[in-house]
Amino acid sequence: MITIRKAEYIGSAVNSTQYPEGNLPEIALAGRSNVGKSSLINKFINRKNLARTGNTPGKTQMLNFYRINDTFTFVDLPGYGYAKVSKEVKSHWGKMMKDYFSTRENLKAVIQVIDIRHEPSVEDVEMQAFLRTRGIPLLVVATKADKISKGQWAKHLSKIAKSLDIPDWKLIVPYSAESGLGVEDLHDAVEELLRLTAEEDEELKG
Ligand code: GTP
Ligand code: MG
Repeated sequence: MITIRKAEYIGSAVNSTQYPEGNLPEIALAGRSNVGKSSLINKFINRKNLARTGNTPGKTQMLNFYRINDTFTFVDLPGYGYAKVSKEVKSHWGKMMKDYFSTRENLKAVIQVIDIRHEPSVEDVEMQAFLRTRGIPLLVVATKADKISKGQWAKHLSKIAKSLDIPDWKLIVPYSAESGLGVEDLHDAVEELLRLTAEEDEELKG
């Protein structure tokens, strides 16, 4: 179990020169606009509004870095897919994220956030494939789980698992930033990701 002792905003970036220094492991949040990435972070750290959230898609416009317990960093990303922004802005976001995913050495894992109610979009599937080819460890969280009854979860999670080619729907963490459901499971999953990362780094060092 992770106990959140400290969570702080440490900066934003639109290009690689602005990424924070140091070598803390980073976990990035990827997902469609408005799916609830920023809200997921807030609930995870039990802070109402550290990450800015919004009713209109396209709220998060830069890479925002949040340092947790001085041990790892969450990177809140702009959403992909539908967003009330111009083509130019979208292509700028695309580049921003591509640069981040392909060059950032601190990036150790990605949490892909999916709406539990909906089938993953084409972009969700593409993102999953892209991260796999990069060999980045990936955890899928199905958020807004408060929006459907618990009896429906398995059906929805199975569909999501199938679209994203995940072998077992139980690998997907159901979550609600509204009710706090799934927060402990996500704490555990993040702890495990960080443990695996640390082990791998040790092995590389020899
Ligand atoms: P962008 O920054 O635009 O990509 O969006 P985002 O993915 O960061 O979404 P954000 O966290 O801003 O949330 C979008 C909307 O969904 C807000 O109105 C939130 O209150 C709502 N929301 C987020 N998570 C949940 C959830 O688990 N349950 C419910 N019911 N609403 C949620
Ligand atoms: Mg956001």
